[in-house]
Amino acid sequence: MAGDQRESVTVVDNRTGESVEIPIVDGGVAASEWAKHMPGLWFADPGFGATASTTSAITDLDGANGILRYRGYPIEQLAENSTFLEVCYLLLFGELPTTEQMDAWVHDITYHTFLHENMRKRFMEGFHHDAHPMGMLMSAIAALSTFYPEAKDIQDPDNRYRQINRLISKGPTIAAMAYRASIGMPFVYPDNNLNYAENFLSMMWKVAEPTYEPDPVLARALDVLLILHADHEQNCSTTTMRVVGSSHADPYSAAAAATGALYGPRHGGANEAVIHMLEDIGSYDEIPAFIESVKNGEGRLMGFGHRVYKAYDPRARIVKEQADAVFEVTGRSPLLDIALKLEEIALSDDYFISRNLYPNVDFYTGLIYQSMGFPLDMFTVLFTIGRMPGWLAHWQELLEQDQRISRPRQLYTGVGERDYIALEDR
Ligand code: CMC
Repeated sequence: MAGDQRESVTVVDNRTGESVEIPIVDGGVAASEWAKHMPGLWFADPGFGATASTTSAITDLDGANGILRYRGYPIEQLAENSTFLEVCYLLLFGELPTTEQMDAWVHDITYHTFLHENMRKRFMEGFHHDAHPMGMLMSAIAALSTFYPEAKDIQDPDNRYRQINRLISKGPTIAAMAYRASIGMPFVYPDNNLNYAENFLSMMWKVAEPTYEPDPVLARALDVLLILHADHEQNCSTTTMRVVGSSHADPYSAAAAATGALYGPRHGGANEAVIHMLEDIGSYDEIPAFIESVKNGEGRLMGFGHRVYKAYDPRARIVKEQADAVFEVTGRSPLLDIALKLEEIALSDDYFISRNLYPNVDFYTGLIYQSMGFPLDMFTVLFTIGRMPGWLAHWQELLEQDQRISRPRQLYTGVGERDYIALEDR
């Protein structure tokens, strides 16, 4: 039989008896072939659970086996040996840089961290005093498109490089600025003598000291968390980036839209939601009642579950290791014991086992950020800084693929045609 095996699927329309054979390419079948033979009969796939929206050579994610690789390199090796900026380069350009390429890349990022003064004085100071930093970050990223109108020239690779550079280098500056504005502290300018993570910590926490000296363990932990967040193939925010990018909008507009997608508690907002959940649970004794309420559908166990991972999220394991290193410096978070117990109970409960619900990257990151002193509403901002290179790598890939504008179909379920009735007659 093996000799008869064909790399294709055959679909029969039982209403007409017509059949169509569709070749399997790169592990998928082209929906365009289907559309050609079955016009008007659309695939129904809300939430895109079974749809590959693109081919991509950036990130390889095998959810069944808990495998995550950027450009072929296992996430464990990158977290152990690489730096966030090197990973940015890898994601964007496909290969690890040579020393010369790395020096040039780091230089370009370091020397684009400053923002136009109008962004600070007029734009950021215009927000309400308790504005959420994610709202500020999203708006500021969108506003950058007005400062760099040449970004609209998306077909020019040199121009694209400049905008990519700006989005990665200015993210931490905007994020720290949003935080400082929210607590009424003066803005700290970037320090070009510090590395990417150190400079961010400096802009966050520097007070009156001439030079801020970040704790190396905390700076490295932050850098590792940024690596873990750097890409995750076609997740909600990356898909948003690609959808908006497919209309040929400039990258600032697309990245602002992706930031909005990341903001939600089912996506990047989950790390903040985990801390709220752990604080609400409050003590060991309340854990069983909380688990029961989740099983009764009264809420979700935040930081658990994933659309793609049906095994332990490999990032969660690395985050747990980083948590140990961070707590050595900052002291143990009082919420850690509740988190560990919650994980232990959930992993032995049939409800979670049968649904393949394991801790995801967000389960422990919030605890680390909180111990490092980040306020809760900055957690998703940190995720945004980390995910930016992934969004940009996909945006660049989309343009190089010359992909069509994203435009899905719908299955209309509303009423049929009816005549308008004048207001006074209703
Ligand atoms: N707690 C309890 N039950 C859950 C959870 C959870 N966290 N996640 C899924 N389920 C249940 C869900 O109720 C459903 O049960 P049933 O089959 O009885 O109706 C089943 O598992 C399948 O759930 P789903 O909603 O179809 O799964 P999904 O793939 O659409 O959702 C998810 C994935 C990540 C949105 C979801 O697991 C969730 O809401 N998790 C909590 C939020 C979270 O931690 N998000 C961060 C994800 S990782 C970082 C990132 O990508 O941003």
